[in-house]
This record gives sequence, C-alpha cells and structure tokens, in this order.
Amino acid sequence: GAGDETGEPVGCVTGYVRSERPDTRLVWQVAVDEAHRGCGLAGALLDGLAARVARQHALTAVETTITPGNTASERLFAAFAERHGATVERTVLFEAGDFPDGPHEPEVLHRIGPLSP
Ligand SMILES: CC(C)(COP(=O)(O)OP(=O)(O)OC[C@H]1O[C@@H](n2cnc3c(N)ncnc32)[C@H](O)[C@@H]1OP(=O)(O)O)[C@@H](O)C(=O)NCCC(=O)NCCS
Repeated sequence: GAGDETGEPVGCVTGYVRSERPDTRLVWQVAVDEAHRGCGLAGALLDGLAARVARQHALTAVETTITPGNTASERLFAAFAERHGATVERTVLFEAGDFPDGPHEPEVLHRIGPLSP
C-alpha cells in the first residue's frame, strides 16, 4: 500500500502466488485514489511488490487480467514490462459470452516476463 502526507491510504496492490507456479506473481487488483492518479504511484507499487517478492524467492513473471479499454491499466502493465526488460503476452481468458450469469466484459490475461530486477 501507499499513504499520503497525513497517513491516509491512497493506493494498494493485491495479489498472490499459486503453489503450482511459484515463479509467477498474480496481481489481483491495483487501485489508486482518483486524486492521486497519474503520478506514477501504481507503477511504484508494482515495482515495490515485485522487488519484495523477488527477495523471498525467484520471480520470473507477473500475470494479471485486464478488461479491454482499461487504458490506464494497459499502460501501467506495459510500462512495468518495459522497466523490467520483459515482454507482454496477451491471451483472451474469458469472452463476453463465457459468463454464465449474462454478458460481462471480457478478461484478457497479460503475462509479463521474463523479469529482470
Ligand atoms: C489503473 C490505476 C491503478 C493506475 O494508477 P496510477 O497511479 O494513476 O498509474 P501511474 O501513474 O503509475 O501510470 C501508469 C501508466 O498508465 C498511464 N495512465 C494513467 N492513467 C491514465 C489514464 N486515465 N488514461 C491513459 N493512461 C493513463 C500513465 O501515463 C502511465 O503510463 P506511461 O508510463 O506509459 O506514461 C488507476 O487508474 C486506478 O486505480 N484505476 C481504477 C481501478 C482499476 O481499474 N484497476 C485495474 C483493475 S484491477
């Protein structure tokens, strides 16, 4: 997480590592308070998380799902890949019609790797 000058939280990143893929960090959600967006905070959160995880065990890739049209998220993860000398591989995980409870935005899996620190 990240806080402002008063200590109020303004951003957070959540994720996990699956036991069968210990080299891959799944980023579940990244969110930054509207008033604090566009300052590089989300990028810094992702870098901090990757560095912390990499100190604990070898980390070679980060995965996340992004809804097409979420430009800020797409740029965020593309920039993260560039900073770490990695490429982004995109595969459609769920099409709009795959959701049993009616149409839903598609989800595209972004796999970023191989990571260098
Ligand atoms: C996505 C989100 C976390 C980005 O946070 P942020 O702190 O503003 O991001 P950064 O300042 O680190 O910017 C990351 C990149 O996105 C770009 N970007 C940020 N906001 C943008 C916008 N509204 N439109 C286009 N590009 C944008 C930045 O220019 C930067 O790209 P660059 O390095 O190529 O210039 C934030 O917009 C957010 O909380 N959105 C709502 C929640 C969400 O959709 N989360 C993702 C799904 S879980």
